[in-house]
Amino acid sequence: MNILKIVRSASSLRAYLANRSELKVGVVPTMGALHKGHRALLDAARQECKFVVATSFVNPLQFDREADLASYPRSRDEDMAIFEQAGTDVVWEPSFADVYPDNFEARITMGVAGKKLEGASRAAHFDGVATIVCKIFNLIKPQMAYFGQKDWQQTRIVQKLIYDLNFDVKLRVIGTVRDVDGLAVSSRNILLAPDQRGSAINLYKALNVGVQSYHNGQTDCDVLRQEMLRVLMLDDHINVEYLSIADAFELVELQNARNPAVFSGAVWIGKVRLIDNVLCGIDIEGSMDAT
Ligand code: PAJ
Repeated sequence: MNILKIVRSASSLRAYLANRSELKVGVVPTMGALHKGHRALLDAARQECKFVVATSFVNPLQFDREADLASYPRSRDEDMAIFEQAGTDVVWEPSFADVYPDNFEARITMGVAGKKLEGASRAAHFDGVATIVCKIFNLIKPQMAYFGQKDWQQTRIVQKLIYDLNFDVKLRVIGTVRDVDGLAVSSRNILLAPDQRGSAINLYKALNVGVQSYHNGQTDCDVLRQEMLRVLMLDDHINVEYLSIADAFELVELQNARNPAVFSGAVWIGKVRLIDNVLCGIDIEGSMDAT
């Protein structure tokens, strides 16, 4: 088994990676609070790459609400055990000052792709994601980068970042890992009270009602959205933020459903915000080459 190396500063990370430039390096960016979804990304990286770098950093730049940042789950010891079991070579676990020293000013600003869906109510969210991912790519210079389908829009943002800023990185998208009942595994699930946990699955159920109806021939997206909404309205615990049927790659909202599409949604259950998505016309069996 690999001995896990943990580094904090950007300079020590650079120094540690300096003599590994000929190896196929894969990166798995995370915010810690690891679960089996993260593990699937680490496993895919381990399979494909000679050298696996993970990052663990709760990036304040991508949080729009103080409370969300403050309540973000942290489980450092368990995380490090999971990184080690997965055969990760090195984890970059910087402090805030390591990433954003005094007088830090540069920002990546995403265009329209970052302002819809997850970006509609969280104006700076994807600028924050893009800025940290850009730093990660510059520091680690990976050949491969592993992201989860769970955050589908994030994968589109990263793909744009790679293309628009000419990073020589191949994006690999790993299918959403779910609990047995279908709930997408998420670091935020542990914030759900036991009676809320039962409601959480209804988002995935609703998305599947829409997808099933589409497969049965319904293509009017207003009708499909109503069908999904009806499922969620039955549950008093749930407040719907958005339900969307969009082109899977451009994320443009559709009037008439067609492949490739992404059915997605965000709901609130008490103070917990959950997202999920189902893809149509894209085969993401385990992993997807998303170039
Ligand atoms: P985090 O939420 O920790 O997620 C890290 C990676 O794990 C992301 O690519 C996410 O899509 C993936 N992931 C989460 N749940 C998953 C699941 N159930 N199945 C498969 N993959 C899953 O996403 C972030 O962190 C941050 O925005 C980050 C990219 C690290 C930038 O700060």
